[in-house]
Amino acid sequence: MLNMERIPRHVAVVMDGNGRWATKRNLPKMAGHNAGMQAMKEIVKRSSTLGIEHLTVYAFSTENWKRSVEEISGIFSLIVVYVEKELKELHENNVRVKVLGDYSMLPEKSVQSLEKALKTTAGNTGLQFNIALNYGGRDDIRRAVADIAKLAKDGKIDPDDPEAITEQLISDYLWTGIHHADVPDPELIIRTSGEERLSNFLLWQAAYSEFVFSDVLWPDFTPEEYERCIEEYQGRDRRFGGRNK
Ligand code: FPP
Repeated sequence: MLNMERIPRHVAVVMDGNGRWATKRNLPKMAGHNAGMQAMKEIVKRSSTLGIEHLTVYAFSTENWKRSVEEISGIFSLIVVYVEKELKELHENNVRVKVLGDYSMLPEKSVQSLEKALKTTAGNTGLQFNIALNYGGRDDIRRAVADIAKLAKDGKIDPDDPEAITEQLISDYLWTGIHHADVPDPELIIRTSGEERLSNFLLWQAAYSEFVFSDVLWPDFTPEEYERCIEEYQGRDRRFGGRNK
């Protein structure tokens, strides 16, 4: 049984296995992404019901540009479909949508859909649904370093002052930081499809995250399996480098 007193504030998910799900059925990869979008929709709803504050999904990585043009444009057009179909319900459910990553190089239509979703839901106070798009953990840190170097160059911080470049300052300039989406570090990172890697997701933010791996391919990942993963997390002993007496 889920312990409702110990629901994580932030769950991040690597939605892996869409391709294999499709291949197993002799279907094109896009059929897998389509089914994956349906699964994602249900996980967003269940996250809301459980009172999770932040759900972050890895929808497109900085490495995914290596895939075929058809697959890439297929995933981007799914964003348009998702917003068209789901924005009304997301808004009714008080969900606030945010994007982690520079989505400006996505096709015009996807950018417009995302901006519509961001703008419509900006004032909502329920679940914050963070979509990582064109996101890479190393790129995230690289950007923060560049921003902080600029602060030093402009004389806004003194790099010789040990109190200036703190871990908190670095966190602040990440996509999850206060200058962007303002998301706490994830307590729980779930990866589906039996793969056990971080794959350049939330590198800095994952320092103390618990990892739960599910063998289920993402399109088959149900809200029940999601709750099982959260239960597994609840059974963990989190020490943050200390001792539990
Ligand atoms: C990983 O499976 C999945 C992706 C790279 C894409 C995930 C995208 C969606 C679920 C749709 C997103 C929709 C919106 C609106 C954000 P894979 O293709 O790497 O699977 P494989 O490892 O089995 O090939």
